[in-house]
Amino acid sequence: MTALTCRLWWASPDDASPALLDLLDPEERERHARFRARADRDRYLVAHALARLALAREAGCEPAEVAFTLHCRSCERRPDPRPEPHGKPRPAGAAAGLEISISHSGERVLLALAHGVAVGADVEQVSADRDTDGLVDYCLSPAERGDLDRVPGDRRTEGFFGYWARKEALLKATGDGLSGGLAAVGVSGPFEPAGVLAWDSPDAPEHVRLTDLDAGPGYRAALAALTPAPLTTDTGDTAALLGAVRR
Ligand SMILES: CC(C)(COP(=O)(O)OP(=O)(O)OC[C@H]1O[C@@H](n2cnc3c(N)ncnc32)[C@H](O)[C@@H]1OP(=O)(O)O)[C@@H](O)C(=O)NCCC(=O)NCCS
Ligand SMILES: [Zn+2]
Repeated sequence: MTALTCRLWWASPDDASPALLDLLDPEERERHARFRARADRDRYLVAHALARLALAREAGCEPAEVAFTLHCRSCERRPDPRPEPHGKPRPAGAAAGLEISISHSGERVLLALAHGVAVGADVEQVSADRDTDGLVDYCLSPAERGDLDRVPGDRRTEGFFGYWARKEALLKATGDGLSGGLAAVGVSGPFEPAGVLAWDSPDAPEHVRLTDLDAGPGYRAALAALTPAPLTTDTGDTAALLGAVRR
């Protein structure tokens, strides 16, 4: 079976520049302006500029010809969906047929791009300040909680975010997001090779691949793809892509 190659584009909120704003569409510019914290604004700007540039490069079109539709799988099943567009961005316009996933945390912005296969990416800053104790019950099954308890204390926070990144990557691949239920998705221990062990939902995908990504010290990241094919990655040259935009 031919492997699926997913291209990863890594960037930083420090890559933000006024020129990137020109790449955003009016809805994106409006959302960008609504963020109060500069760090959030910059992560959003870099992620969305990067998405347009990478998709345009892949589709052989201009960034302005790239459009997105947003899909919330949880709303699609509900009688009272939230009226405004939200959820997983799906490339449209000249970039139709490509799939992406966006994630940002701390100093990392991540875009995953694949042809014709839904992907989910998640990067998480390993943050000792966050009250992970309160999140453990929400995120982990009883068996996973037991496994995390056996991780040495100084690696436990990292282990928790390892679980979180893997599970969220899976739920972003399907488009469920957190409403798909992190605890319903069972993954291997955070210091073991990544694998899906269980998915307690009637809407679980038939085929899925999961791998960890190296986001550097202080971060955990993962990539999921809804495919039976082996999953491989390569890395795009973000500096060249963003550098070509006039500053
Ligand atoms: C949206 C969500 C998946 C984001 O996760 P996060 O760790 O906070 O943030 P990340 O940076 O990793 O991911 C954010 C990106 O995920 C994408 N995204 C949003 N909803 C998504 C979904 N349902 N599936 C896949 N991707 C989604 C967006 O591109 C977003 O980036 P953007 O806001 O810059 O466009 C998660 O916060 C969530 O599911 N929240 C609950 C939302 C909710 O209530 N959903 C039900 C609404 S009716
Ligand atoms: Zn929704």
